[in-house]
Amino acid sequence: VTLNYFLVGAPRFLADLLEAELISRNLNFQKISNASVPAPVPLPLAIAIAPTANNRNDEEIYLVTAPNDGLNSISLIWAQWIGPKAVVTSFTSISQAAKILKAQGKLWVNLSKMSTGKAKLISELLLSPKKKALKPFAPLPEGPLGVWLLLSNETLVYSSAISPSLAPPEQFKFEETKIPPSRAYLKLWELLTRFPNLTPKPNDRVLELGSAPGGWTWVLGYQLKTQLTCVDRGEMDLEILKLSKAEWIKKDAFSWIENQVGSTLPYDWVFSDMACEPQKLLELVKKIISNNPKCKLICTIKLNDRVNLEILDQFKAILHSNLIHLECNKHELTWWLI
Ligand SMILES: C[S@@+](CC[C@H](N)C(=O)[O-])C[C@H]1O[C@@H](n2cnc3c(N)ncnc32)[C@H](O)[C@@H]1O
Repeated sequence: VTLNYFLVGAPRFLADLLEAELISRNLNFQKISNASVPAPVPLPLAIAIAPTANNRNDEEIYLVTAPNDGLNSISLIWAQWIGPKAVVTSFTSISQAAKILKAQGKLWVNLSKMSTGKAKLISELLLSPKKKALKPFAPLPEGPLGVWLLLSNETLVYSSAISPSLAPPEQFKFEETKIPPSRAYLKLWELLTRFPNLTPKPNDRVLELGSAPGGWTWVLGYQLKTQLTCVDRGEMDLEILKLSKAEWIKKDAFSWIENQVGSTLPYDWVFSDMACEPQKLLELVKKIISNNPKCKLICTIKLNDRVNLEILDQFKAILHSNLIHLECNKHELTWWLI
């Protein structure tokens, strides 16, 4: 049965936020917890089942009913991956299940929480993506990628068309380095590797707001060789600043920008990882866009205890922009406009 469904995944710590978002966007959903029920699952909706421990037990998976015209338009801030056009189908044998999946694609991630028994035997007949660490800025493994799980011992659900940049998060692990003074560089590595068109070219003029101590500075200035200006009222790592050939303006970014926007800001890109209220960042971003509509922006939106979906939707509503939760993001989101 082909259903108007999406498979959506999020780590457990985001589950409440994702569920609130699904409800607020009027999407119907079922949480799929595991696959160990031997009886046939009533279709069209799959039913939740007891979780058992394995390496994916920190993730919640949802079967989301898409609006009739919404197969391509669904976009959820808190989903870490989205599998379009999910299919629920019954099967009679392990080899038949594997055959169904192989006919739809080459690489498969097994999402069955109970990866013993049938699910394990099926996954042994399938190819899965290599688990080796990614190299920053290198091409992602070829896609598309499929995800699947068993809803029961004779019911399978899968989505075969996930693009590599929107694949389940365990695909985006890097080998870390100790050179930069903070681990924030991992967010940029992840973003620019998943979405290579967001990578500034050497000598592009880049403004970096909230740059201290300098993890992003190292990526932007040293690794990518941009012409970099950093603004932070906190202390930068001076070694990294030198290595990155970056200028540092030790000021409050908001008042500094205020003083600059009398004329067009001379930057191709503005990056911000500044710790500030989402509302304040939104106003700043709008000011920068109206000052220099050609400027591309990449910002972390830092969240506090009360997440305001309305403000996030105002970011999303800015034409040609995107808002996602990266694997490396904690209580924050990444927004960009190019
Ligand atoms: C998460 S840290 C940035 C980490 C940095 N991206 C890195 O890779 O090392 C947030 C920074 O925002 C800066 N910040 C917060 N409010 C600011 C403001 N109004 N003006 C300038 N910097 C600000 C803080 O000083 C802090 O260094």
